[in-house]
Amino acid sequence: VVPDLTLGNSVRIPQLGFGVFQVPPGRTQEVVEDALAAGYRHIDTAAAYGNEAGVGAAIAASGIERSEIFVTTKLRNGDQGRARAAFLDSRRALNLDVVDLYLIHWPVPSQGMFVQAWKELEALYRDGYMRAIGVSNFLTDHLDALYEQSQVLPAVNQIELHPGFQQAALAAETMSRGIAVEAYSPLGQGTELAGTEVAALAGKYGATPAQVVLAWHLGSGRIVIPKSANSERMRENLAAAGLELTEEELAVLDGLDGGRRLGADPATADFSQF
Ligand code: A2P
Repeated sequence: VVPDLTLGNSVRIPQLGFGVFQVPPGRTQEVVEDALAAGYRHIDTAAAYGNEAGVGAAIAASGIERSEIFVTTKLRNGDQGRARAAFLDSRRALNLDVVDLYLIHWPVPSQGMFVQAWKELEALYRDGYMRAIGVSNFLTDHLDALYEQSQVLPAVNQIELHPGFQQAALAAETMSRGIAVEAYSPLGQGTELAGTEVAALAGKYGATPAQVVLAWHLGSGRIVIPKSANSERMRENLAAAGLELTEEELAVLDGLDGGRRLGADPATADFSQF
């Protein structure tokens, strides 16, 4: 069973969730229904993925009590100047009254609007539209700007993090501020499963490489949102919650860091697709 992690505002989040980045909108309902049937109770989507409606339809079709499922969505970059309206659009697409966690998807510092957007999220949060608010792809200076200019501490910072690209300094700084780290592309989009160190641990525990990598995230105190379009691999990944690595074994994976970023760089990339 997946443990909960308690966020800074005391809201509990299942530490292992299911991500739907790049799940085609037309397949999302079916994939999320599979994930819920496999036992996932935490779904991570975004307005920019175009698949919120499929997530909402799957939740409705599942018959699972709303309070049993934790749902995250994110503010699109182009919507930072209309955060309230964009949030209400997402809420409608998801067919939910309350969103569990709402994130600013990227800081887009060149746009100069993320602090203003955050203040709108704060107001929505105070009005009870979401149980927690947070950020994604924020670097330390972006967190500093929020800290200096706003009232509510982000509950999470969701960042690219896998064995090949660990952002260890940013992750440690985020956690030390009382902000939970959520790892996206936690398996390196499938590219971080072939190493000999991971294989050795998989052999030792009779686990799969993906389970070893996910157990590393969980044992390191991060929230993790692997994705799979395949129900067997969904179940395999969920079962990683039952695998506990030793401190020494966690350190072996810490040692695999290699600057292998897969996604955009929050400081420099062209963010038009988000
Ligand atoms: P598939 O959807 O065919 O299972 P990430 O979560 O880091 O983005 O990684 C997702 C990618 O990793 C997808 O291509 C997915 O393929 C693959 N993947 C997910 N779970 C596993 C697993 N348990 N074993 C192997 N590949 C996996």
